[in-house]
Amino acid sequence: MSDIKYSFGLWTVGWAGRDPFGLATRPDLDPAESIRKLADLGAWGFTFHDNDIFPFGAEEAERLSHIEKIKKAAQDTGMVCEMVTTDTFMHPIFKAGAFTSNSREVRRFGLRKVLKNVDLAAEMGATTFVMWGGREGTEYDNSKDLITAHERYAEGIDTVAAYIKQQGYGLKVALEPKPNEPRGDIFLPTIGHAIALIDSLDNGDIVGLNPETGHEQMAGLNYTHGLALALHLGKLFHIDLNGQHGPKYDQDLVFGHGDLLSAFFTVDLLENGSPNGGPRYDGPRHFDYKTSRTEGVDGVWESAKANMESYDLLAAKAKQYRADSEVQAAFEKAGIFESAQPTLAADETIDAFLASEETYDIEALSDRHEGLVHLHQLALKHLIG
Ligand code: GCO
Ligand code: MN
Ligand code: MN
Repeated sequence: MSDIKYSFGLWTVGWAGRDPFGLATRPDLDPAESIRKLADLGAWGFTFHDNDIFPFGAEEAERLSHIEKIKKAAQDTGMVCEMVTTDTFMHPIFKAGAFTSNSREVRRFGLRKVLKNVDLAAEMGATTFVMWGGREGTEYDNSKDLITAHERYAEGIDTVAAYIKQQGYGLKVALEPKPNEPRGDIFLPTIGHAIALIDSLDNGDIVGLNPETGHEQMAGLNYTHGLALALHLGKLFHIDLNGQHGPKYDQDLVFGHGDLLSAFFTVDLLENGSPNGGPRYDGPRHFDYKTSRTEGVDGVWESAKANMESYDLLAAKAKQYRADSEVQAAFEKAGIFESAQPTLAADETIDAFLASEETYDIEALSDRHEGLVHLHQLALKHLIG
């Protein structure tokens, strides 16, 4: 195993295979045992929802005893609790949303549950607080005032961020976009939507993104492009890596078991940065996958290992790809290094630009070929050659 910091949601290996059409195909796992098992497999950290480790509505004593077991497993293994998130989707009270429910009482209940979990995240030493609003959305466009629903969503997120600051916690909020499922349409369906809303918040400086591979791909979007935009804006706070085959239900496959070329470019960006430098992601490589329900418990650990192995393999391939002088020459020919030059010179005013007598050889510029197929074939050769 490499020295890359891999982490797993306890709900990932813990998923027993219940889906809308079928019963569980595996026994429920003890989350503390899962931490030990993941540590044995070479993982560095773990993450969880409040109700992955204690039941909804648990009495305080019961809640604390479950938390103690998790802390003990973390202590014994050295596994880092790097992120905590809140379940605001499972219980029927959240069927029409938590922060965007029309019911003010449901919203106040949801906010209280989330703030209590912020305290737990801080206590566990986590650095990221993920918010996935799985029930924030609609099946019917007239079931909510769509503008006030976004106002309430922003209010809820801003309140969580304000609370983190007020308590002096070392946490950042990471919103997780998803286009649909379980709602027909979920609010903040993509990275771009979430970034736009964050920009309107009073406490948006500590709010960023937790983009998931499959969620962007469900919307027909390019995950690696989304990561690049979030990096450019300083908003890539966390990641959920998994696999997906295009726009269909959320598959949550093992990383690399979906669109493999896309996974290669994701790893290339994460491990090597962009060719001209720029902001890097230095957080954990976090997997949010589900073991296929065809698998038994052995398959759970097999697939957990497969996530890390896929990433390791792709990271090694991506290193070779960047180190290849033919690839660097192809980057040069494609103009990738030229793209780092600002379009206007540092001291060039718009007026000076417009007044300049510069001419362009339209024919030659139109006949400019960047050798992109060759460059892409080089990537493919490194990937599967
Ligand atoms: C999904 C989501 C969830 C969230 C998790 C964090 O697959 O729809 O990824 O798994 O990541 O609930 O709150
Ligand atoms: Mn998912
Ligand atoms: Mn996720």
